[in-house]
Order: sequence, then C-alpha cells, then structure tokens
Amino acid sequence: MTRATLILLLVLSVGAGGCGIAESLAGGGEVVRVYSGRHYDLEEAFEEFAGETDTSVEFLFGGDAELRERLRTERENTLADLFMTVDAANLEIAASEGLLQPIDSETLDEVVPEHLRHPGGLWVGLSKRVRTIMYHPDRVDPSELSTYEDLADPKWKGRLCMRNSTNVYTQSLVASLIAHHGYDEALEVVSGWVANETEIIANDIRILETIAAGGCDVGITNHYYLARLLEEDPEFGVKPFWANQDGRGVHVNISGAAVTLNADDPQLAGDLIEWLATDGQEAFVYGNHEYPVNPEIEPPPLIRQWGDFKEDPLNASEFAALNADAIRLMNEAGYD
Ligand SMILES: [Fe+2]
Repeated sequence: MTRATLILLLVLSVGAGGCGIAESLAGGGEVVRVYSGRHYDLEEAFEEFAGETDTSVEFLFGGDAELRERLRTERENTLADLFMTVDAANLEIAASEGLLQPIDSETLDEVVPEHLRHPGGLWVGLSKRVRTIMYHPDRVDPSELSTYEDLADPKWKGRLCMRNSTNVYTQSLVASLIAHHGYDEALEVVSGWVANETEIIANDIRILETIAAGGCDVGITNHYYLARLLEEDPEFGVKPFWANQDGRGVHVNISGAAVTLNADDPQLAGDLIEWLATDGQEAFVYGNHEYPVNPEIEPPPLIRQWGDFKEDPLNASEFAALNADAIRLMNEAGYD
C-alpha cells in the first residue's frame, strides 16, 4: 500500500480570529483539495483514501461562511476541488450562490437515498444526523412524548430546553416544519414553544447536561451529542426519543460534500465523494457516532442500541431552501 499522504493546508478559526499552519506532510500522486466546514474525523478518512488510491488529499478547515467567501473571491483560481460541510442548509447556500457543479455518479445515485441528495446533483449527503427529542427518564414517561409539534402543548410549560435560533440545526428543523405545515401553522408551533417558556441554550451538549441535572425535562438535540456523553459516561442520565414516528418521521439532517464549480479535477473529486459514500463510510461516520447514509453499512455500535427509526422523507434540499424563512419565522415568534 502506498504511504498515505495528507496535507493540512491551513486551519481557519471558526468566526473571528487568526489562522495558522497546523500540519504539513509530504504528498504524492494526484492531488485532491478540500475546503471543509466539518471538522470531525476527516483526517482519518482522507488518510485512508490517500493510502488506497495513491492520491494526496490537501484540506483546509474553516467556518462555512468563511469558506464560501473564499470560493467566491477565488473563483477560477480556487485550489478547492471539494466543499464539505455539516447541515444541508450550508450546502444549499453554496449551491444557490453558484459555487458548485453537479456530480454525475451512478454509484452515488445507488448508495445514497434520494432525499439525502440535491435533486440536481449539486451536493450529496454522506452521514445522517438525527435531530430529535431528548428526555430525563425519571421526570418524563416516554408515553407522554410524541412530536415536535406536541412540545407546543401547555403541559410542557417550564420543562423545555432548546437550541438558539442562530444555530443552523435549529433553522433546518424549523424549516422542515414550514415545509410540512406551511408558514402560519409552523409559526403557531414555534410560538407555542416560546409560550412554554423554553430555555434557550446555545450548545447541544449543554442542553443534554441541563436535562441530566434536572434543569429541564425535555430538549431537542442532534443524536451524536448524546452518544459522545454516553461514551464518556455510560450512566449519563438522558434518553433519546424518536420524534414523529406515527407521522412523517424524525427530522434528519446531513453532513455532505460537493464538487466546486472551478474544481481542477472534478473526476477525482467525485471519486473521493463516492469513496466516502461506500468504502469510506465507516471511517467517515463512526468516530462521531453518525448514521451512515449507505443502507449497506451498519450504524456505529453505541447508537445501534437505540434501534431503528422512521425518518422524514422530505428532501434535505427542500428544508435547506427554506432557511431564510425559518430565521424570519423564529424572529416573528420571539424565539431567541
Ligand atoms: Fe454538531
């Protein structure tokens, strides 16, 4: 096997702040370059791909807005062949700004479910992150729980913790409510959460810790944050509840990838994306306890115990395209 070659171009801090060269290893063979807003587990996956294919992978980590700004200003001079990030809304914004080109891949059409891919091939989901209801098992009987919409019921007053409105995960969940119910009905749901004096917490881990400590009974977070806490402490006292199982299914978001408009080597970029959706699925999803998009791959062990769930079949590009409406709606509802 060829020695894995990997070059970390530069690490940009998220938000304001400086940047610096973090790591640089010698490269060989063809080079594929990645701009990534996703930070989890990529190095291991890239190293494996590089080793298997005699390719060098160079990557640059950064905040999503920063990386899109780079793609916009660099235009045809960009080094990036791939743009990778978390949350379909971030991919959709890049698509709508004309920064991406379609991927034509029978493999991806086969192994990635249709609702987790852009209908025009502009981006593709590579892992699933389930944003669902979390509860304290001593303070809530799971039979009391049902849907995101039900959390607007006055019986939950003073018992809820949720994420802030500037967070893209919250925006995508609310956008999915708009897609299913229309703006006015979705506004009623979110206004109900506000009327229930929901405590807004700007961090999913802190939401789970607050539930565990009895500060609230129920919250909404991405599933893998609970997995991380359970990995540290198997007795951590919060349970997941798959939302909306009697209806459309739980809200599923993605982490995904796209080929940039000005990629030097779109073919090689597509090869890396195909590899991540097939042979590289485990390397890509296991470290962060995410669900594979490829149904042939088993979920990581820790989250397998939570069992199967029905997922909302709404195409991720549909809720992603409603991002601005979701922000407006939360503002109108007085949701912080
Ligand atoms: Fe996250």
